[in-house]
Amino acid sequence: MGKNFARKDIQAIGGYTPGEQITGRRIIKLNTNENPYPPSPKVGEAVKAFGWESLCLYPEPTALPLRETISRIFGIPQDYVVCGNGSDDLLTIALRTFVGAGEAFAYPEPSYSLYPVLADLQAAVKRPFQLTADFGLPEDVVAQAGDAKLLILARPNAPTGNVFPMAQIRKLCQEFPGVVWIDEAYADFSDDNCVSLVREFPNVVVSRTFSKSYSLAGLRLGFAFADPGLVYEMNKLKDSYNTDRFAQFIGQVALEDQEYLKANVAKIRATREAASATLRARGWEVLPSQSNFLLAKPAHRPAAEIFRELRERGLLVRYFSLPRVDQYIRITIGTDEQMAEFLDAVAELDR
Ligand SMILES: Cc1ncc(COP(=O)(O)O)c(C=O)c1O
Repeated sequence: MGKNFARKDIQAIGGYTPGEQITGRRIIKLNTNENPYPPSPKVGEAVKAFGWESLCLYPEPTALPLRETISRIFGIPQDYVVCGNGSDDLLTIALRTFVGAGEAFAYPEPSYSLYPVLADLQAAVKRPFQLTADFGLPEDVVAQAGDAKLLILARPNAPTGNVFPMAQIRKLCQEFPGVVWIDEAYADFSDDNCVSLVREFPNVVVSRTFSKSYSLAGLRLGFAFADPGLVYEMNKLKDSYNTDRFAQFIGQVALEDQEYLKANVAKIRATREAASATLRARGWEVLPSQSNFLLAKPAHRPAAEIFRELRERGLLVRYFSLPRVDQYIRITIGTDEQMAEFLDAVAELDR
């Protein structure tokens, strides 16, 4: 390679490694927490009905029509809503809006491995804190976060799948002096959520995505709720046209079909519980999950080996070679048929 023209701090970091996207051979893809079912059939109709001619025009910069739909469905005024090119885009906006170079950003470990990467990209000071032995929130998060400007928590957490108790989250929102960002990428699969907190606390943001429960990971669309003061500032940081016309249109259609969403989520939850029970019966340790994936420790053999051998059979799950989770594999909940194949393979491999 010739001369490296990138900033020194960018050269020094590895960047984020997304889960594999393999095409070309038959695989069962249980590695990146996508939804195994297609989006609502109404989305299919809308794709065909979409006025392609309008693509010659830029989209509405703040996704106003989509925000109006979100506002109606969630019962929250539209000036509390900001949209993004997936919720990852909103997380980047979070770091850029709230954490200056050299200022601190707090997040738990283990959690979504993008958080520290975003901190590096913004030259922020990383202030990770360890989750408890059972992957709960420690009582002294506020003290550990110190003068951090931003604290991000995923609820349900990834890759562990559990939810932190609501009382603890509420207390944190009250006591933490900076912005508390609750990443709810998986909240539709859980029993409760934190959306109402944004009306109670001026420092709280809750982000959502169309990638998981709406089966639209390929569309790249996410949204967040926050006090209009925070939304106003975030709007300055986002790309002017960070959500395109097509995504805005399809997002509205998907949101309108709440019946399909509920049925889709109910199927995933039922499959999740059945797969957990089967793995536990085989002696695996399965963390309690409120999301569309399981973090599970094989009973007899190292997780890394099981991961590799599943992969050889065309069964892709995720393995993180990271402290505290390297004994586990993370399995996205697929269809019942996909999970049956996975469980059969596990029965053969883990003896
Ligand atoms: C905790 C968490 N937040 C956000 C995302 C990103 O989702 P999106 O597709 O909306 O960018 C993911 C994706 O896996 C995730 O696990």
